[in-house]
Amino acid sequence: MNILVTGGAGFIGSHTVVELIAAGYSPVIVDDLSNSSPSVLKGLKNILGTDVPFYQEDCNDYVKMTEVVQKHNIQGIIHFAAFKAVGESVSEPLKYYRNNIGSLLNILNVMRANNVRNLVFSSSCTVYGQADVIPVTESTPKKKAESPYGNTKAIAEDILEDSVKAGLDFGIISLRYFNPVGAHPSAEIGELPIGVPNNLIPYVTQTAAGIREKLTVFGSDYDTPDGSNVRDFIHVVDLAKAHVSALNLLQEHTSEPYYNVFNIGTGRGNSVLEIIDTFERVNNLKLNYEIGPRRPGDVIKIYGNVEKAATEMNWRAEKTLEESMEDAWRWQKKISNL
Ligand code: UFG
Repeated sequence: MNILVTGGAGFIGSHTVVELIAAGYSPVIVDDLSNSSPSVLKGLKNILGTDVPFYQEDCNDYVKMTEVVQKHNIQGIIHFAAFKAVGESVSEPLKYYRNNIGSLLNILNVMRANNVRNLVFSSSCTVYGQADVIPVTESTPKKKAESPYGNTKAIAEDILEDSVKAGLDFGIISLRYFNPVGAHPSAEIGELPIGVPNNLIPYVTQTAAGIREKLTVFGSDYDTPDGSNVRDFIHVVDLAKAHVSALNLLQEHTSEPYYNVFNIGTGRGNSVLEIIDTFERVNNLKLNYEIGPRRPGDVIKIYGNVEKAATEMNWRAEKTLEESMEDAWRWQKKISNL
């Protein structure tokens, strides 16, 4: 079955391409390379031993997307392609709404016109904001997003749910990702941030590699066991496999319009300081870090209840935090030639 993977040269997208092939699907990548590198395609080839069909196109382009869907007889889409820098979305909201919402609407229209029924959408635990009760379940109320980026995920979920409610012939699953970390154990693909990383793990690995002088821990006076923020850090290979499970589940629900949403995390919370400690311990090195002020907009703590995915999709994260930290460092060493 041919699956269009938008954003397939990105961090989560590229790992998902590997898992799709392992599960017998045939992925086709569309990526405009606006936040990814062609070197990812080489890494994929090294893992897979074969090229994956690739088109450098913008998902907002109806004609190009239609061409790819028709040429490859696409039967399902995984839509990763989106802008994701939280801070930039605050200063450039229209760029985020136009791209993230526009591309989703475009893809839904292409799907309708070409009888493509199945879609897996990249959502985020950001839709929960700072939840009152943790761990969050899928029925935990969504909160007003802290950023336009977060709002694009909340709005996208509403668009998808409304489309299915209206009886459009879609089978759609939104996956609410927690914090993806790690890299492929082969070190052929991993996270490739452009410029100064916003996210914790690339900042940690770049500091260890000497690219950044020092990591700043954004706050240690929160109401958490050690004072730093708590997140649910999930290995990107586990996260990638959740997309295969979602596609499999969609094939069990073909008789009527179907929409569902799943938390995709480990079910565990780890603090930023625990991450640093684990990274140092498993990789046997010392990280230069300091405690700094809080970062505006950070939720204090969040992790997910992931039983729904286990029960209904037969999916569960399997890798440990230690493996995530080892794989992240192996990848950084590879790209830094260390
Ligand atoms: N952190 C630091 N120092 C850093 C970077 C991060 O202490 O240099 C801390 C943050 O304060 C936070 C934790 O590490 O407590 C994780 O931060 P990330 O930026 O890695 O990820 P977030 O939890 O902030 O996640 C956000 C959104 C997601 C989005 C993700 C990717 O909530 O929806 O960024 O951009 F997908």
